[in-house]
Amino acid sequence: MKSLIEKLISTPGPSGYESQIREVVRAEIEAFADEIKVDALGNLIARVGSGGKKIMLAGHMDEIGVIATHIDENGFIRFSNIGGVFPRYAPGGRVRFLNGPLGVIGSEQLSDPYKVPTLDKMFIDVGATSRENCPVKVGDVAAFERPFTDLGQRLVAKAMDDRIAVAVMIAALRQLKNTPHELYFVFTVQEEVGVRGATTAAFGIDPDLGLAVDVTLTGDTPKGVKMEVALGKGPAVKIKDAGLLADPRVVNWMVETAKSAKIPYQLEILEHGGTDARAIQLSRAGVPAGCLSIPCRYVHSPSEMVDLGDVENAVKLLVELLSKPVTLAR
Ligand code: CO
Ligand code: ZN
Repeated sequence: MKSLIEKLISTPGPSGYESQIREVVRAEIEAFADEIKVDALGNLIARVGSGGKKIMLAGHMDEIGVIATHIDENGFIRFSNIGGVFPRYAPGGRVRFLNGPLGVIGSEQLSDPYKVPTLDKMFIDVGATSRENCPVKVGDVAAFERPFTDLGQRLVAKAMDDRIAVAVMIAALRQLKNTPHELYFVFTVQEEVGVRGATTAAFGIDPDLGLAVDVTLTGDTPKGVKMEVALGKGPAVKIKDAGLLADPRVVNWMVETAKSAKIPYQLEILEHGGTDARAIQLSRAGVPAGCLSIPCRYVHSPSEMVDLGDVENAVKLLVELLSKPVTLAR
């Protein structure tokens, strides 16, 4: 599992530029799917089983990143965000452009050096000295650069959001012996810029039930967000976030399945943020939808942290959920 996670994390995929990570995921699942296709936006859709209830799973392949907007005469690159880049995590960080160059993020001198500058006061320095010798052009895209670090039980990397869910879905797909359902494992694009990939994928699949797999915040760090979820206490069943009221029948299905399989779980209410579940729920005439969340500290920083036990239990729960018939009790 750790080596799969490391492989997924070390392949870049800012929103809209998921072609490299898509090929890595495709190679991991090819032998286990009945059919694989890529839709117009770039979602990778793997079908397993046929004829039963159509269940769509969505885990996003994309990650936050930056895009070059201007190169000055001294070769410094001004940039804009792709997705939710927090200014406080940016200065001193490193980014890798998809065409190769590595850059460090610097910022203008502010009158108050303890204030966090806004992104428009920052720039990327790739070691160039002029616009002419700068290897980056306007429109070039970069992902944050930070190696995967194994702390034993806890794993740290950029883009755990949402490669950890991609890893969970790949592992579940491989472990699934058989299913009474028609499953669609969708590795979505452009989640970080507004759940765009899941929107078209859900329309195309027209599922009977939808489940996103994504990270959620935790409330277990010093004076952190007020939230019940903690690292190491099991995957979380989402009840609500800013974009979704999970279907109570889906919540019930997830909770009852976890209980009967004796898998630890937590209940999640996240006050900000959203996932692909929102796009699935609001697709066409509406779809019962929920979300399986992997607790993660420091989300959208270059050092997102998850617990290996939570990851393994998320795989177990997903396999349990998908291998038995589902009745959504009213
Ligand atoms: Co995110
Ligand atoms: Zn995410």
